[in-house]
Amino acid sequence: MALKKVGILTGGGDCAGLNAVIRAVTRAAIIQENCTVIGIEEGFEGLVCNRTQELTIRSTRDILTLGGTILGTTNKGNPFEYRQYAPDGSISIHDYSDRAFQNCKALGLDCLMVVGGEGTMEIAHRLYQMGVPVIGIPKTIDNDLEMTDYTFGFQTAVEVASDAMDRLHTTGRSHRRVMILEVMGRNAGWIALEAGIAGGAHVILIPEIPYRIERVVEKIRLRAEGGSPYSIVMVAEGAHEEGGSAVAQESAATRLQGVPQLGGVGFFLAGQIQEHITLEVRCTVLGHIQRGGSPCAFDRVLGTRLGSRAVEAAARGEFGNMVALRTPEVILVPLAEIAGKCRTVPLTSQMIHCAEAIGINLGRQNGFS
Ligand code: F6P
Repeated sequence: MALKKVGILTGGGDCAGLNAVIRAVTRAAIIQENCTVIGIEEGFEGLVCNRTQELTIRSTRDILTLGGTILGTTNKGNPFEYRQYAPDGSISIHDYSDRAFQNCKALGLDCLMVVGGEGTMEIAHRLYQMGVPVIGIPKTIDNDLEMTDYTFGFQTAVEVASDAMDRLHTTGRSHRRVMILEVMGRNAGWIALEAGIAGGAHVILIPEIPYRIERVVEKIRLRAEGGSPYSIVMVAEGAHEEGGSAVAQESAATRLQGVPQLGGVGFFLAGQIQEHITLEVRCTVLGHIQRGGSPCAFDRVLGTRLGSRAVEAAARGEFGNMVALRTPEVILVPLAEIAGKCRTVPLTSQMIHCAEAIGINLGRQNGFS
């Protein structure tokens, strides 16, 4: 069956490289398949509420380097658990998956490209099970999707975070302070680990390894005694103490999205450290700066490769799959094997060994440093 019409939506939190994917899908679909391309606005919200725009080579011109997504995105709008807000502030949850299915049909889509992270891939898989011809494209700064070496957006976030580390080093050393950088990473510590290694962190705390404050303080003290009265600590937002839980905000976002809004562990940790040492402690929360702005070259290339490979898969009718980087190739992996799974940093990972082998403290009892 010839491919005539392709839809594309971007779901979940944004990241750098989304527009590179939109551009690649649009160009490959038009140049290779002579297709019409329909952009669905604001993720699944646009699919439920039928908000679309046609994408052309002209309308996707100049967006390769542009941050964000020209289609808009939202963490809300899951068609299977659609949250509706009443003026009195109450929320009701509805199953609008049939509406999404019918809208795909009415649009005449031969394929729906779903660009997103783990939650978005789970929805994509459920739509595929209902009969929607879906192809997934992996995105997230957290890099926590199964079966792909990297998701696009991650390397850009690592670049931003390691640049921030470089800056904290100079001010931290000048003032003889302990500088904490809190980065994103809800369940997985990939950003903290990679950017921490790249940025010369002395301590890196990740969600996979609950920390002991005595170990962190010991490292800072040893450094001070050894003639380095300053330390740089990298902490992922989902990191927590042994026996504790991640620090979350009581916020409207938490209520509206139904998932806790993380953030604040950096300040919590600063308070803990300050109780034990005389050096001053400061905390910086990098937050959404990691998600905004222009993608690095790696993410531009990865996004473009994934987008063009997705069109190829659609033309061959290989639905129900996600395109994935298996270096050096881009392959297809079944959505069924990714849906609902989160790829955390394995404790046996060489990254963890490498960090500890060079003396980075990971806050654990039996770590090397
Ligand atoms: O999933 C990516 C992510 O960046 C998480 O690390 C973070 O917890 C979350 O998005 C924050 O999302 P938002 O503030 O957009 O709800």
